Amino acid sequence: MNKNLIYPNKSIKNLTMKFRKTIEVKNIFNKISYKYDFLNNLLSFGLHKYWKRKLVNLLEPLNGEDWADLCCGTGDLAFLISDRVSPRGSITGIDSAKDILNIAKRKSEIKKNKFIRWEIKDVLEINDYSKNFDGICMSYGLRNLNNVEQGIKKVFYLLKDKGRAGFLDFNHSTKNSLSNIFQKLYLRLIVVNIARFFNLSPEYAYIEKSIRNFPKKNELIKIAKEVGFKKAEYRTILGGANGNTNFS
Ligand SMILES: C[S@@+](CC[C@H](N)C(=O)[O-])C[C@H]1O[C@@H](n2cnc3c(N)ncnc32)[C@H](O)[C@@H]1O
Repeated sequence: MNKNLIYPNKSIKNLTMKFRKTIEVKNIFNKISYKYDFLNNLLSFGLHKYWKRKLVNLLEPLNGEDWADLCCGTGDLAFLISDRVSPRGSITGIDSAKDILNIAKRKSEIKKNKFIRWEIKDVLEINDYSKNFDGICMSYGLRNLNNVEQGIKKVFYLLKDKGRAGFLDFNHSTKNSLSNIFQKLYLRLIVVNIARFFNLSPEYAYIEKSIRNFPKKNELIKIAKEVGFKKAEYRTILGGANGNTNFS
C-alpha cells in the first residue's frame, strides 16, 4: 500500500473526529445551559460551590493580578476571582458555548459586576494573550477539551513566567476502586435519571464518557511537567470522586 495515501486520510479522519467532538461538546453545553446551575446545585448537593471556593483559596489571586477562567460556563470561578483581583487587576471568562456564556453575562448584570470580561472562544484556539495572565483556573473544563495535553500546553502559553494554574474536575480513579464504582453508580443512577426529567439524559450521560477519556492524576502531573511547569500537585476531594490539580 502507498503510505502517502494512508497518512492524509488518517489525519483527515482525526481532524474530522476532533471537529465532531468540538461541535458535540458545544451543542451539549448550549442545550443544557438553561438548567446548568440548577442541576449543578442539585446533583452536587451544593458542594461544587465549596470546592470552587477551595480552589480559589489555594490559588490565592491578589488584587492587581490578571486572571482567566477558562471553560468558564456560567462563571462561578470568574465571580469568585473578580472579588479578589479587583479593582486593580482583571478577570476574563472564556467559553466556546454562546448560550452558557449568555447566562454568565446575565448573572453579571444581576450582580452589577462590570469588572469581568466575557469572551466567546475555543480555548485551544486562543492565539493571542501569550504570557498574559498571572493565574488561570478551570473547573470541569479540561476534561471536555478535544485534547487535554494541548489544553495544558495552552494554559502554559497563556501564563506569565511565574504564573499559576488550578483545575477542578472529576477524578479518574483506578477501575475497580471504591470511588470509581461509587462514581459510576452515582452518574448512571442519579445524575442521568434526574436529568431525564428535563429531557437532558443523553447530555448528562456524556459525563461518564468524558471521565473515561480523561488522564489519571499521575498522567496529568506528567503532562504538566513535560509542558514546562516546575511544580505540579494533585489533591483528591470527596473520597476521590473529584480532584484539584495545581501547576506553577
Ligand atoms: C462542565 S462545564 C463547566 C463550567 C464551569 N467552569 C463550572 O465549573 O461550572 C464545561 C464548560 O466548558 C466549555 N468548553 C468545552 N470545551 C471548550 C473549549 N474547547 N473552549 C472553551 N470552552 C469549552 C463548555 O462550553 C462548558 O461551558
